[in-house]
Amino acid sequence: MWLPVDLSFSLCHSTRNYSFATPREDSIVERRRVRQHKRQTTFQATIFIANIKVHSCHPANHNKLYVSELASFVVMSRQNRKRKSKRVGKATYNNAIGYDTRGRLYQSVEEVWYSHASRKQEDWYSIAESYWHKQNPSVDGMLGGYSNLSDIDVRSSLQFLQGLQLPSTRIALDVGSGIGRVATELLTKMFEQVDLLEPNVHFLELAKQNVSDSQLGRVFRCSMQDFIPEVDRKYDLIWIQWCIIYLTDEDLVEFLKRCKSCLSASGLICIKDNVSRKHFVVDTNDASITRTSKQYEDLFKQAGLHLVCCQIQENFPRQLFPVFMYALGLKSF
Ligand SMILES: C[S@@+](CC[C@H](N)C(=O)[O-])C[C@H]1O[C@@H](n2cnc3c(N)ncnc32)[C@H](O)[C@@H]1O
Repeated sequence: MWLPVDLSFSLCHSTRNYSFATPREDSIVERRRVRQHKRQTTFQATIFIANIKVHSCHPANHNKLYVSELASFVVMSRQNRKRKSKRVGKATYNNAIGYDTRGRLYQSVEEVWYSHASRKQEDWYSIAESYWHKQNPSVDGMLGGYSNLSDIDVRSSLQFLQGLQLPSTRIALDVGSGIGRVATELLTKMFEQVDLLEPNVHFLELAKQNVSDSQLGRVFRCSMQDFIPEVDRKYDLIWIQWCIIYLTDEDLVEFLKRCKSCLSASGLICIKDNVSRKHFVVDTNDASITRTSKQYEDLFKQAGLHLVCCQIQENFPRQLFPVFMYALGLKSF
């Protein structure tokens, strides 16, 4: 006879119902054995669930499941609670401010860049490049399997932009444009011309076809970290959606400074991306970092930008990371 084990793990309960089989408890010895078995099974189940969470989300995991964050962290916390003082890498459960999808804890964000810089073969950016090379050039590919959220996303972005009351709507730049989803669905509805910036040549070709000739501005086949703005081009809006996570902190600040230099007098930079609630999360599959809002605000400050407005995307599934929309300007309004 087999009995189900209560995982006594609220996070798991809240996401899925699992049951695990254990032998019947017949005697004290047997009960002890069962208790031990339960502990092991629960622990294994937790790891198992963590793995499911990490791997069950679509590989194009921009909309990485928030539950994966919780589950992986709980795996680590359960291990570490038992041996509080034992260090895992440099960070411990108590002092970690971030972790990656392989279960490594980080005490500082610098450790992330350091560990990547010290690798011989792959560097941070080439992982993302080859990752995106393998993704489908479709809305589903762009949204990690969540193409059903595209309409809600665009609608909220439109409301957000309208609320900003931009005095001029001449030229916008779509950064990390992918196949031009945002350019076609959002930016061309508000701006006379839209420029595209995207490193993946296949996506960019599609984006160029998707935006009407009359509204297609300049096209930059390059990455954010390599982008040098053209001196004769000023933007009323620079829209950066679901791609800033690929930049290291240093490159993010430098990129924003360059964006600042090509804004029109009343122009704004808008960043829409996943934001982690408590710990930053590094996804080792595509070399991305989901930052906390505190990290973002620090980086915006370092770039000399003012936070004009910030809104959280509504009506997205709760298991996803929260998505923030930031509007940044040269001076406070
Ligand atoms: C999740 S898709 C988002 C596409 C589009 N912004 C949207 O919301 O539909 C991420 C895009 O960022 C691009 N990307 C990845 N790393 C980048 C980098 N370092 N610089 C610019 N774009 C990058 C990818 O090629 C991909 O097109």
